[in-house]
Amino acid sequence: MSARGRARTRHVVATREELPPGQRKIVKIGKREIGVFNVNGELKAIANICPHHQAPLCLGPQTGEIKANGVGNYLYDREDEIIRCPWHSFEFDLNTGRCLPVPDLYRVAVYPAEWEDGHAVVYV
Ligand code: FES
Repeated sequence: MSARGRARTRHVVATREELPPGQRKIVKIGKREIGVFNVNGELKAIANICPHHQAPLCLGPQTGEIKANGVGNYLYDREDEIIRCPWHSFEFDLNTGRCLPVPDLYRVAVYPAEWEDGHAVVYV
């Protein structure tokens, strides 16, 4: 049972060969479209719908996070852990679903995902 009291169901969505590091696969589970990403060997699963204007979020480019700690002093970090919406470029954290510029306004659903016996498994 999840924290909200609803049991999640297990879905095998890809083999390890279909989803090497740096790749993604968009799958349909029931009425949901979910993007499954291999980020440096770790699986991330996120709803394929942007909460801003409902773009297919998981078709956007994967990127990292740019942080500034002073004028002209930038740090590029967390390579491939961020997805940028293809329509208006809002960026979302693949770990939490939170929108980087406005985390309290926009958030997208994330799902537990892991490797099991060479298969990518998502719990919905
Ligand atoms: S629809 Fe995604 S940022 Fe606008």
